[in-house]
Amino acid sequence: MPDPRHIAALQQAERERFIATHPQSLALAQAAQAHYLFGVPLHWMRDWPSPAALFVSEAQGASLTCVDGLRHTDFCLGDTGAMFGHSPAPLAQAIAQQAAQGLTCMLPAANAVAVGEGLARVFGLPMWQLALTASDANRFVLRWARAITRRPQLLVFDGCYHGAVDDTLVDLDPATGRTLPRASVLGQVHNHAAFTRVVPFNDLPALEAALARGDVACLLAEPALTNFGLVPPAPGFWDAARDLCRRHGALFVCDETHTISTALGGYARAHALEPDFLVVGKAVAGGLPCAVYGFTAEMADRMARAKDAAPEGHSGIGTTLSGNALTLAALQAALTHLHTDASYTPMLALAERLETGLRERIARAAKPWTVTRLGARLELQFMPHTPRDAQDVRDHAQAGLETLTHLFMLNRGVLLTPFHSMMLVSPATTAQDVAHLLQVFDALLTALAA
Ligand SMILES: Cc1ncc(COP(=O)(O)O)c(C=O)c1O
Repeated sequence: MPDPRHIAALQQAERERFIATHPQSLALAQAAQAHYLFGVPLHWMRDWPSPAALFVSEAQGASLTCVDGLRHTDFCLGDTGAMFGHSPAPLAQAIAQQAAQGLTCMLPAANAVAVGEGLARVFGLPMWQLALTASDANRFVLRWARAITRRPQLLVFDGCYHGAVDDTLVDLDPATGRTLPRASVLGQVHNHAAFTRVVPFNDLPALEAALARGDVACLLAEPALTNFGLVPPAPGFWDAARDLCRRHGALFVCDETHTISTALGGYARAHALEPDFLVVGKAVAGGLPCAVYGFTAEMADRMARAKDAAPEGHSGIGTTLSGNALTLAALQAALTHLHTDASYTPMLALAERLETGLRERIARAAKPWTVTRLGARLELQFMPHTPRDAQDVRDHAQAGLETLTHLFMLNRGVLLTPFHSMMLVSPATTAQDVAHLLQVFDALLTALAA
């Protein structure tokens, strides 16, 4: 266990270093207080460990330049929105071209058929609908799942995050195994714990017990937990979990928003999970606001029957700008030029190199830490083994060390994802970028040993 006073002293030195080297960001952060809550357009932007937000002047490929003119190698990549790199050229061109030809009409654009074909080709499901964010897409799928099964309950894993989706913002009480409203959620008045059950990830008996009551509409899950550290599925877990869902008549909704890093077409395709619904957001259109949800022909049939049987009026599914022409143009370019083997092959190879480099250094320094990787996505974990579930991650949390790591790296031109020590490798990331991160990691280990 590192000495907390040493960590605190190192953190203080890093805060001072940031302040000395980022005068322009500090000035903008001060001025932005006048018009933005917490001084930023989205309050999460203050959840980075720096004393003030890093204001960005440009992002290109795998790097971004802040307003102080410093170049940062970006392993956060907008927490996956820019997984294919910032502003890939074919995407920027498609957006510029469409921007001059109409942005939104609430009618299908001429390329809608080609986009549907592209989605089916990349993700392997035949039927699709669009949304603007993964949060929206998840909300819409949950509504469909409840409508077509006529079952009220949802099932999620402890430590899950599926976006701003009220139904899923619940926690597991470790003492009783009961579901609780998530204490951090603001303005909550509905008791979502009454309609959502939470079970630990990788726990088949708990999953079976939650399904056995026969009232679960769907299991909504990421193939691996990515928002509570990176927690991979145990061998055989998904085969058994998928069977349990089928046996108990619950649909399986796979949220691939982050696990799209696994391989071309995502984890579900690579591992034949056969979801009933699949959600992808963030990077699906290269970072332009877009999310998609796909489903089987059987689901489409049941959805059509549910809609036909309902009275005319609001369905509660969809938003005005969903499937707009600009989004479709970006999505088409992304499906053609970004969701390709040519993107994934170098990403996966460099991510493996980064994993090996981190592991070698951890072993040399005899640190009780590990690295977990899911394709192009890696997590440095300050615990000795691969976590099994969210509670395992909670039990080993080292907030001080995590904050120090982020700020130390940021001050040396390497961005990790805030909230956890996640690194994402894009097709634009280079071997030099990886070497740079590893050099900074060496410097961190030296500072910790001093
Ligand atoms: C797995 C997963 N699903 C959905 C979302 C929601 O995405 P958005 O915030 O773009 O709506 C997130 C966000 O982090 C996520 O990690």
